[in-house]
Amino acid sequence: MEPIITTTGLRKSFRSKRGPVEAVRGVSIVVGRGEIFGFLGPNGAGKTTTLRMLTTLLPIDSGSATVAGLDVGRAPKEVRARIGYVSQLGGADELATGRENLVLQGRLYGDSLATVTARAERLMAALDLADFADRKVRTYSGGQRRRLDIAMGIVHEPEVLFLDEPSTGLDPQNRANLWVQIEALRTRGTTVFLTTHYLEEADVLCDRLVIMDHGEIVAEGTPRDLKREVAGDAVVIVVHGGHEVARRAGRILEHEPSVREATVEDDVLRLYVEDGATALPVLLRLLDAERIELRTINLSEPTLDDVFLRQTGRSLRDGGPAGTETAA
Ligand SMILES: Nc1ncnc2c1ncn2[C@@H]1O[C@H](COP(=O)(O)OP(=O)(O)OP(=O)(O)O)[C@@H](O)[C@H]1O
Ligand SMILES: [Mg+2]
Repeated sequence: MEPIITTTGLRKSFRSKRGPVEAVRGVSIVVGRGEIFGFLGPNGAGKTTTLRMLTTLLPIDSGSATVAGLDVGRAPKEVRARIGYVSQLGGADELATGRENLVLQGRLYGDSLATVTARAERLMAALDLADFADRKVRTYSGGQRRRLDIAMGIVHEPEVLFLDEPSTGLDPQNRANLWVQIEALRTRGTTVFLTTHYLEEADVLCDRLVIMDHGEIVAEGTPRDLKREVAGDAVVIVVHGGHEVARRAGRILEHEPSVREATVEDDVLRLYVEDGATALPVLLRLLDAERIELRTINLSEPTLDDVFLRQTGRSLRDGGPAGTETAA
């Protein structure tokens, strides 16, 4: 693997009224050329802050980072020439048309008008922008705007593309379409670094990912390896009677030999068991004997959410509500 992005002990704090916020607390990663690399984590985990340091938009407090062999702190201009960046908010000119935005963006990087026009045309077709290419961006819907943002991030064919929450605001069809575009970039050799809180997006797209929480990396690997670490099957039980009943069910089942881990969140009890199919009848009988009524029960293979849950005790899916705790 030829490294194209490296960070060592990257840190960033902000001052706020309630004291310092340590947004990024010692992040070290290596991304290989041509990889799709993901940062998965809940709101406030430090994903955008890391991305802004790597794209030279935010000074680094301590630690170091290189992109395409260049030190981000020492050679910001050279780094900027090699990357594309699509921020969480986007950066299109509202008063210009989609086509004008795209062509201008390409020209800013020094490509000829003919080259840029041809690329813009291709991108507008690929990202379903052609129908309103000549309308002012002000009139675009959220999803249309997001697709334009992404086209603007790649029109100059950067070596490394940073995408902050690329599919936020897209409907399922456009999200799937975007995934195809991102994979096409990888085929062309572009390295893609993206942040997301969509588990499925990280799972489908990323060659490797890190899971971030409170400014730190809590897990790292391929989606497959991460899920394998959780090992076994996940049994998700929703009880009648709310949190207290779910906790009681957790206390009853956590001592079962087949149960490796039990966590309770609201009225949901999650169990990790070696083999779901054999464990399930035993678990159900025990709950029945204690007169615990079940609303639903679900057996599944582990997801990246299970990985996150295991590392942090919270679920990424529901944004980690208060009242989360482990049964153990
Ligand atoms: N300019 C700033 N001043 C003060 N605090 C900041 C600033 N930028 C970020 N933070 C804080 O740093 C932490 C990390 O924020 P960051 O935007 O990196 O999170 P994120 O993982 O991108 O979250 P999200 O999924 O919501 O986009 C948060 O607590 C945030 O409030
Ligand atoms: Mg963010």
